[in-house]
Amino acid sequence: MSRLIVVSNRVPAPDRPPQGGLAVALLAALRERGGVWMGWSGNSSGEEDPGPLALREDGAITWALTDLSGRDLSEYYQGLANSVLWPVCHYRLDLADYSRRDAAGYFRVNRLFAERLAPLIRPDDLIWIHDYHLIPLASELRKIGLRNRIGFFMHIPWPAPDVFLTLPVGEELLRSMTAYDLLGFQTVPDVENFGLCLRRSGIAQPVAGADGLYDAAGRRFRAEHFPISIDVESFARTAQNAVRNAAMRKLRDSLEGRALIVGVDRLDYTKGLPQRISAYGRFLGAHPDWTGRVTYLQVTPQTREGVAEYDALRREVAELAGNINGRFGHLDWAPVRYVNRAFAQQTLAGVCRMARAALVTPMRDGMNLVAKEYVAAQDPEDPGVLILSRFAGAAAELGEGALLVNPYDEETIANAIARAVSMPLEERRERHALMAEILRHYDVFDWSADYLDRLENGSAAQGPERSEESSPEAAPAP
Ligand code: G6P
Repeated sequence: MSRLIVVSNRVPAPDRPPQGGLAVALLAALRERGGVWMGWSGNSSGEEDPGPLALREDGAITWALTDLSGRDLSEYYQGLANSVLWPVCHYRLDLADYSRRDAAGYFRVNRLFAERLAPLIRPDDLIWIHDYHLIPLASELRKIGLRNRIGFFMHIPWPAPDVFLTLPVGEELLRSMTAYDLLGFQTVPDVENFGLCLRRSGIAQPVAGADGLYDAAGRRFRAEHFPISIDVESFARTAQNAVRNAAMRKLRDSLEGRALIVGVDRLDYTKGLPQRISAYGRFLGAHPDWTGRVTYLQVTPQTREGVAEYDALRREVAELAGNINGRFGHLDWAPVRYVNRAFAQQTLAGVCRMARAALVTPMRDGMNLVAKEYVAAQDPEDPGVLILSRFAGAAAELGEGALLVNPYDEETIANAIARAVSMPLEERRERHALMAEILRHYDVFDWSADYLDRLENGSAAQGPERSEESSPEAAPAP
């Protein structure tokens, strides 16, 4: 079995238990195969160039972390990655703030990653590169002479060509992607959009009769969907245990029998937070019988401070939450609890299990693992209701059991809240069972095994039922 080299911008802290299913699954694959996880250390070297790679051995795994200079971080991370690629891939062209300087910085940092990584790689290693920060990394590694099998996984949506090709470096990025052997996306529409971008720009053509195979001037590569998931069993167990701990008892006491609705999202303009909070206000306005009988807890840790849009959003969301409390609240009841803080996974799992409904209503999202965590956390005998945006990747799998909403339509969200909090037990059980079955069938370990199998052998071990899901009816409207 080949060693595995994982590369991602963020790397889990080597000395702490990993948070989240993705890190757990990649670590399990690394432990099994042996290999390297390379990425950004999370630290800046300020005005100095970053020092040498920090290498750390831990059994079969070598951690290889690089600092980045202040200029690197501003141009690559805050610049092209988070002020251009992130908004464009989430269809927010209005927020894209492109400059040639940031684009040059982005390619420069990808070259730096390649130069630092190349000496650690053996000829038969498999290389798996993650997310929009590192799109051109394979092409930089090829320039150095590497001939390994290299895969890429895009964790965020891939937009339609009319959107993607507004990027001044759009074609350059697409051309660099032909250096991979396998390009993985979350959903069928993402793969289709990527294929359309390749064809529209004339960079690669599909190979007739071979689904997912492309040809770029003689170089062949595949593009397929692999819907990421969570460690379902472990999350369910954590949630079951968490409800008994002291913090959860305190939360339960503080609710005084009110129904809990939960939202858990990074503070990000893609998550639809203002629309969701307003929709909750509409629900309270239209259903006075729920006054004092429901509490909406929105947990929203801050990220990407220093990117202007995020700072503005923080103010907007806090104001909206305050307005609802001002308008509907009583001496002994705040309808919204809005918390700008990150919590341990155990706490979140417990909160999910206690919640009668979850609001997962992003305007656009690659997958959205909170949706899957919420389903996994439920008690199957008395489960809560998932209110899910049709523009989250998770809707392709969970659409039958969730209450699907259009996040641009606040009235629909308000109606879904009303339906969720009063849904009869039998319907809740039926809907939950449909979703739980799908999660059981394909968890994050299946996802990583499936991807690595495709990368290594070009064939899937288990697969997310590709032929069925690639029918247009199975996917939500993009
Ligand atoms: C999304 C991206 C990840 C990123 C995460 C947190 O999930 O797909 O690549 O790590 O957001 O964002 P941050 O900028 O804090 O790494």
